[in-house]
Amino acid sequence: MTVQALRQPPAGDATKPLDVERIRADFPILTNVRPHGKPLVFLDNAASSQMPQQVIDRLVRYQTHEHANIHRGVHYLSETATRAYEQARISVQRFLNAREDREIIFTTGTTEAINLVMHGYGRRFIGAGDEIIITYMEHHSNIVPWQMLCEEKGAVLKVAPIDDSGELIVEEYEKLFNARTKFAAVTHVSNALGTITPIKHLIDVAHSHGVPILVDGAQATPHLPVDVQALDCDFYCFSGHKVCGPTGSGALYGKAALLEKMQPFKGGGDMILSVTFEKTTYNTIPHKFEAGTPPIAPMIGLGAALDYLSAIGMDRIAAHEEALLAYATERMLEVGGVRIIGTARHKAAVLSFYVGEVHPHDVGTLLDEDGVAVRTGHHCAQPVMQRFRVPATARASFALYNTHAEVDALVAAVVKVRDMFA
Ligand code: ALA
Repeated sequence: MTVQALRQPPAGDATKPLDVERIRADFPILTNVRPHGKPLVFLDNAASSQMPQQVIDRLVRYQTHEHANIHRGVHYLSETATRAYEQARISVQRFLNAREDREIIFTTGTTEAINLVMHGYGRRFIGAGDEIIITYMEHHSNIVPWQMLCEEKGAVLKVAPIDDSGELIVEEYEKLFNARTKFAAVTHVSNALGTITPIKHLIDVAHSHGVPILVDGAQATPHLPVDVQALDCDFYCFSGHKVCGPTGSGALYGKAALLEKMQPFKGGGDMILSVTFEKTTYNTIPHKFEAGTPPIAPMIGLGAALDYLSAIGMDRIAAHEEALLAYATERMLEVGGVRIIGTARHKAAVLSFYVGEVHPHDVGTLLDEDGVAVRTGHHCAQPVMQRFRVPATARASFALYNTHAEVDALVAAVVKVRDMFA
């Protein structure tokens, strides 16, 4: 059977700004869906971004021409599927600039990656009285696993505070380190505030105390170029569905020497070299951490999504989104009565806000009537809400395909909400 060539991502010319209209044409959902008869203004990208046709086509190609289980067959299809899956690992390696592809573990997302490190590293190396440092702006997925570990081991969770703008108070973070500190886990970008943390410095501080550090990159990878070798972090994780890939995909980067010292997270097929009732010998990394049949298609889709973003260029995406955020911030502040939660100097394309005293859920529902999709709620970051003394916020979050005209649509819808409650 003839296999048609897949559609290519828009070529990246580093000297030119993004051709957003050209990019939008790759995302069928942006024109297919008209909520309440209105054009879709999709500004809930921090929860999940949309997939370009190139990723959808890659998934269809896999399902129609390549599907079989991986690592288990000598037959043609199994070898084809294995090649595609391992090629996706190389796409992740390149996207993060990891030294080796065996340093990339496929996970179902950031949450599973953090849980993997908690079980694989934490349960082996952290004990009673040891301390783990996180920050006040972590997502629940970078709080709860560490709390579970502390409860099990009698370890202590230390939390670095943030200021009124939503920036980490770096000197307080530095002061938390002492001889009992055994691990740090910090976010690169806050999902609720948009704050970009001074991640290189946070990593260097941890290392100056001999402490390994995990970086939650779920909200950074869609917006910023990431280079794990330059950062020198020990672990870095992200989710596929926030980088234009499928749900159920994601990855953990870990330095090979650390991954080799860790215990497996899950036991089962593919993560072993040999099994007898007396003893099991584990497979080499990364397979030691990928027990059972993985979500093969989502990982192949993830590889295609990262290739798509890389072809456009993460620097250009970052520049486009920075301009969108600056424009959105300025325009929202012109609307009397709008309060922005999270005003750090360095922010990714996330804008949390309040319209007067209107509950964010009402704001979200009214914006939806105008076709504008934002997330409302505590954003799985309840400590951030407590810090800012709000139960929830409305949150607009931008992606590479969003436009200045969509910011105008958001602002127009917000003005209507304000006037309705005036
Ligand atoms: N963690 C995702 C968000 O921030 C779901 O919306």
